[in-house]
Amino acid sequence: MIGPRPWVASSSPLGTVQSARDADFERKLQTRPYASAGRRRVYKLERDDEQTSGHSSLKAVNADSVVSFKMFKALVSFAVVAASLQFANGAVIRRATCSDGRTTANAACCALFPILDDIQANLFDGGECGEEVHESLRLTFHDAIGFSPALTAQGKFGGGGADGSIVVFSDTETVFHANGGIDDIVDAQKPFIAKHNITPGDFIQFAGAVGVSNCPGAPQLQFLFGRPAPVQASPDLLIPEPFDSVDKILARFADAGFSPAEVVALLASHTVAAADHVDPSIPGTPFDSTPGHFDTQFFIETQLRGTLFPGTGGNQGEVESPLRGEIRLQSDSELARDSRTACEWQSFVNNQAKLQNSFKAAMAKLAILGHSANTLVDCSDIIPTPKPADSAAHLPAGLSHNDIEQACATTTFPTLPTDPGPVTSVPAVPPS
Ligand code: HEM
Repeated sequence: MIGPRPWVASSSPLGTVQSARDADFERKLQTRPYASAGRRRVYKLERDDEQTSGHSSLKAVNADSVVSFKMFKALVSFAVVAASLQFANGAVIRRATCSDGRTTANAACCALFPILDDIQANLFDGGECGEEVHESLRLTFHDAIGFSPALTAQGKFGGGGADGSIVVFSDTETVFHANGGIDDIVDAQKPFIAKHNITPGDFIQFAGAVGVSNCPGAPQLQFLFGRPAPVQASPDLLIPEPFDSVDKILARFADAGFSPAEVVALLASHTVAAADHVDPSIPGTPFDSTPGHFDTQFFIETQLRGTLFPGTGGNQGEVESPLRGEIRLQSDSELARDSRTACEWQSFVNNQAKLQNSFKAAMAKLAILGHSANTLVDCSDIIPTPKPADSAAHLPAGLSHNDIEQACATTTFPTLPTDPGPVTSVPAVPPS
């Protein structure tokens, strides 16, 4: 329990406080539910630091006659450390307690708490990792990847990246072939954007990051705030299609600034995903057997030999999958087997930490395509911390290592336990 004046309550000689203590103080500043008097003082101190490098905080502390000059010196040094740590983390310069009592790194981020509450309750069905989360994650990609330096170099409009153009210019962009079915989530998000004071580009990336946090095993994604409104619709043909060749997919991503390894990392998104439109006869058919979990099953199951079509078969961009009820994209199948990406693909198998770290890093790049991080405010601490993964990597029941199509030439596929029982069918992701 920390009293209303943590800097006074310490029993150590304040003049000899070391950096570890300073760090501890900074941690407490970030986590402590402040009593009102203490909160007011700390907040003022930090605002003063921001404006005058700590000197005007003298006014605030001198007003409190119980604080001695020696204590005050220590207080200022604490505050300078706190302020500099926040600078070191990026554009963050102010720590704030918002009107509802929740704290965040920057007062500008307070505006996001009501949006967080609204979308968790009313878009994501009370915090589920369901259809709207999957669709919102897909939307982060389809908005952002509309960005082509190659087109710009030809003197054409290359798109604004993660700018919300897919919402503002939805009449144009939702009819692009690669955007099949995206109008559902665009329409679902529009009322939230209209209701809250947020640009569409910010909302799309915020909703994606919040949504993913509902999926056990996911990383807490970065969220930077402050994208301006879009100016123009994205050009067509910038979003990869499932029937594109690996050459074409890697070239498109390279144009947008992503390496082959980052492409594989971004495709971790397909661990919480289903297809409605690849085979329209079986809407909600997932890409792996655990679409409500951000786990490594997608990378395991895409390496299994395809044996069946879960629906009608013969659909553009679809290849055979190993399980009834599971659909496999041609692009995922080929990326899992191409010499440029196969070892990276396999490296995610049963490696939750790598899955989280690589996806988080790649998503951080994707979410600010077309923007510069130093024009945005880091509001990542608004994004809820996801629950840990609650499933262990395994081969689906009835299948074995003999069903793995080894594609990485240098490392063998990890040994995994097989689920007990006969071969099962994967249930569809229910519509909400
Ligand atoms: C080679 C690149 C990619 C291709 C060809 C591709 C293709 C597809 C296709 C065809 C679907 C099914 C859509 C439907 O029928 O409803 C889909 C779903 C999805 N994609 Fe991708 N995708 C790619 C990359 C990405 C990336 C980078 C992300 C996110 C960062 C992403 C996130 C998703 C999600 C979450 C879904 C599930 C949507 C739902 O369940 O409603 N995809 N993708």
